[in-house]
Amino acid sequence: MRSLAGDVIRHAYSQRDEGKLHKRLYNAICSSILDGSLRPAARMPPSRDLAQELELSRNTVLRVYEQLQAEGYISTRTNSGTFVTDSVLDNLDAGPEKRAPLAAETQYGSLSRRGLELLDHASASARQWGPFLPGVPDVVNFPHRILKKFYDRQTRQARPEHLTYDTAGGAAGLKSALADYLRSARGVRCSPDQILITEGIHQALDLVTRSLCNPGDSAWIEEPGYWGIKNILRMNAVNFCTQPVDEQGMIAGEPRSPAPRLIFVTPSHQYPLGSVMSLSRRKALLALARETRSWIVEDDYDSEFRFAGQPIPSLQGLEENSPVIYTGTFSKTLYPALRLGYVVLPLPLAAPLKTMHSELYRGGHLQMQGALADFISEGYYAAHIRKMRQLYARRRQALVTLILNQLGSGYLGQYNSNAGLHLILQLPDSADDVALAQRANGEGLLVRPLSRYYSGEDKTRGLLLGFAHIDEHLLEPSFNRLATLIKNMSADIIAPVRNNQTGRE
Ligand SMILES: Cc1ncc(COP(=O)(O)O)c(C=O)c1O
Repeated sequence: MRSLAGDVIRHAYSQRDEGKLHKRLYNAICSSILDGSLRPAARMPPSRDLAQELELSRNTVLRVYEQLQAEGYISTRTNSGTFVTDSVLDNLDAGPEKRAPLAAETQYGSLSRRGLELLDHASASARQWGPFLPGVPDVVNFPHRILKKFYDRQTRQARPEHLTYDTAGGAAGLKSALADYLRSARGVRCSPDQILITEGIHQALDLVTRSLCNPGDSAWIEEPGYWGIKNILRMNAVNFCTQPVDEQGMIAGEPRSPAPRLIFVTPSHQYPLGSVMSLSRRKALLALARETRSWIVEDDYDSEFRFAGQPIPSLQGLEENSPVIYTGTFSKTLYPALRLGYVVLPLPLAAPLKTMHSELYRGGHLQMQGALADFISEGYYAAHIRKMRQLYARRRQALVTLILNQLGSGYLGQYNSNAGLHLILQLPDSADDVALAQRANGEGLLVRPLSRYYSGEDKTRGLLLGFAHIDEHLLEPSFNRLATLIKNMSADIIAPVRNNQTGRE
């Protein structure tokens, strides 16, 4: 019987004439899943039908189905048939080596080498909401009515300059409100004309890389670190050199020749391990950057959410005229789809990067920026952060208690500071955190494997657990499912952790 999925596979199969038949069929199905022509949960054609349609032996089709099943692309449901795995995109996040780079290359033959490399490392998940997804704030409790009130006011007073292209790097009102906020809440030394409004930190990192690096330059990044920066560096043909992280933050290496043009760090809350950069490391890094004439790029992505002790002030503010480009975002304090963040530039960079920002991105959303400026100036921003901080502190504590009670202190990550929107569930070195995450993702628990945040071979195993967005009454049942999965894992995936060895909570 003909089916939609069968048509898709037949078409992809007919486009290839390379290699053995089973390889050709495997590549055809893989690429159809990867490019979305075969959607998650789509029913696969029965092997007999597909064999008939493609004039292949049924054994060839069965062999390919078996291979795809073993790799997590498809799964069989008893008495129902074979389906593209629901969580196939998440599984791919967890194990990019399971992608078919050769298939992608043939298919996207006309893309640039950099574009192909980016595709090969693409890692944003199709699922951006669900239990334990790291980095997501509670978007449900957002005071939409208040922000809407300010937005309506902006639209009532609409002026032509708010409805045309922005060449000033963002609305003046928002830059001014942010300068006040950043000075008092984050200890950032700045004036409004040093600030550019961007579509999140991600765009700020791209702007900074494009404007300050030449192809072939080198940059330092933390190991483990934020995956997004690696893709930006790849796209800009900048070589990256990883620097390890411990409980005091990044351990800066010897600035070999060539010195890094940019040094990317998350000093207030190392991503993803969670340590806080010590004062001596901060001072040493500033001195190193001055000596090598490098720029430090400070990523202050979620430091508003510190649940105990004093807030950690920014690295940028530690010294007058520091060689630091500071970046921040509303993605964690408000919500990611707002796509608003900011960069605070050292004075010599402010004017040229403002022009580059305008040339590259053509700013907009000025009415929303105006509304946000009022939201901040009238105290609602600080109040929302205060309220969320209390809520997240409760949720974090509830998660820590669940981990301690159900698994033991050995499972609490080594450097988890009392901050941020996620914590690390530590696993033994022998554990396959990618396989564990795949199984959890398959059950709708959107944990991420820690080892995927490393570039080198030396990896710590664990799971990133986002907790800020999970309602308390859903946290326990979700965690119970995860704990059961961990306890039931076969010995090859996880060996027992010795408690009280690594936990610091
Ligand atoms: C460490 C880190 N930096 C930057 C970002 C990107 O933030 P934005 O949404 O502002 O682009 C993220 C997103 O999760 C992050 O985890």
